[in-house]
Amino acid sequence: MSTPVDQLLPAIIAHAKEYGFVFPSSEIYDGLGAVYDYGPYGSELKKNIRDYWWKSMTQLHENIVGIDAAIFMHPTTWKASGHVDNFSDPMIDNRDSKKRYRVDHLLEAKADEFTQAGDSAGATALLAQMDTLLAAEDFAGLKQLMADNKIVCSVSGTGNWTDIRQFNLMFSTQVGSVAEESDTIYLRPETAQGIFVNFLNVQKTARMKIPFGIAQTGKAFRNEIVARQFIFRMREFEQMEMQFFVRPGTEGDWYKYWKEARLQWHLGLGIAAEKYRFHDHVKLAHYAKEACDIEFQFPFGFKEVEGIHSRGDFDLTQHQIYSKKKLQYFDNEINQNYVPYVIETSIGLDRMFLLILSNAYEEEQLTKEDGSTDSRVVLHIPPVLAPVKLAILPLTKKDGLPEVARDLMNECKPYFKCFYEEKDAIGKRYRRQDAIGTPFCVTIDHQTLTDQTVTVRYRDSMVQERVLMSQVRELVSAQIQ
Ligand code: GAP
Repeated sequence: MSTPVDQLLPAIIAHAKEYGFVFPSSEIYDGLGAVYDYGPYGSELKKNIRDYWWKSMTQLHENIVGIDAAIFMHPTTWKASGHVDNFSDPMIDNRDSKKRYRVDHLLEAKADEFTQAGDSAGATALLAQMDTLLAAEDFAGLKQLMADNKIVCSVSGTGNWTDIRQFNLMFSTQVGSVAEESDTIYLRPETAQGIFVNFLNVQKTARMKIPFGIAQTGKAFRNEIVARQFIFRMREFEQMEMQFFVRPGTEGDWYKYWKEARLQWHLGLGIAAEKYRFHDHVKLAHYAKEACDIEFQFPFGFKEVEGIHSRGDFDLTQHQIYSKKKLQYFDNEINQNYVPYVIETSIGLDRMFLLILSNAYEEEQLTKEDGSTDSRVVLHIPPVLAPVKLAILPLTKKDGLPEVARDLMNECKPYFKCFYEEKDAIGKRYRRQDAIGTPFCVTIDHQTLTDQTVTVRYRDSMVQERVLMSQVRELVSAQIQ
């Protein structure tokens, strides 16, 4: 039985908290808006997603290398990148509630209402009008569009709005003890600039030849005004970004290549293709020549999980101008010096985490052999990403079964994350593993003592089979590559 769509996100949030995936930040002080902490299983899942992405970029592509740049960067970086002047969103305040909203979020929420009421054409038309007005920075037109669609503040219930204004999303802080303007630095709003400023350092030290990529994962910070939908939109989040440097003139082909390659990465996790779609941008970010989102069908509708952007030579050229240092590449195939063009792939790690949880969560009704019914909550997390790969469960605490189970634990734990448990009935133990998405459980029973076989129980099908204990490590390893 699938959970009704409107109850799915609350159910996932509650499950994530109860089973140690995600907690509100500093919860004992009532939390901090749009900031979250990852618990024991959440931090494993997050790390596994990060590793899976890192491996696909830097191990499976011979022409991509990684870096780990600092969060703090010289403040001129953000002047050059355009973030000081352009990284802002049109916002509007409600005069009665004093609440501030991003205008595109209000209009998107209205479009979602149309879709839920069965008026997909109305939703599409509204979003198309919004895109056109945003692209033209027509704030009066956007305010009129809100009025035409009777958009009101969810707190005050009124449409008593201020004019639309731009607000910068960067957090700033001070270096040193004196708060002078020259000491102001920013918490990076994207990891990409750490890659651009290191372009020549990396190209030279790793002896890279164009086309090549530089990958990075790390924290980014944005002062999001309307922060909602759990870890979908956070103020502190993590990005996994890759900048691919190409010869000018080839960027169109590489843009197509990365659009397709990134979709295939998602589908390679076994997630249904119909849950994904591309959204080509009409309003382009200040740096982009061509851009699209990969959207996923979250419990609250199709939303962006990843962006692919053709950034031209914008960033490197800007850093050349502001730093007065050359950021060029000598291409000996064509005997020319040039500033490379860039194709960027940028995915939010936390958003990918929510994607995996949303896709995995199921409240399943079960009919037993005797006709009685039961239920379980199971997370169908792809085995390669699962926080725990194998649970090792001796049937009883005596008769030498724990000792045999411990031997298997010691054999497997250097290779993948295992979990050992003796407590409670075996059915209860299976349910707990289902709830954290453990793909394989192994039970050691009295038969094990005589023929060295164990029962392997598969999470998704709940099928059980006997295999030789000596085969368990290989069986699990083969499924988690
Ligand atoms: N360097 C390009 C860049 O930052 P973006 O579309 O602003 O592009 C890329 O962000 C990805 O980062 C998004 O697709 C999303 O997955 C993630 N992201 C952006 N803002 C976020 C936020 N406030 N909370 C969580 N993830 C976010």
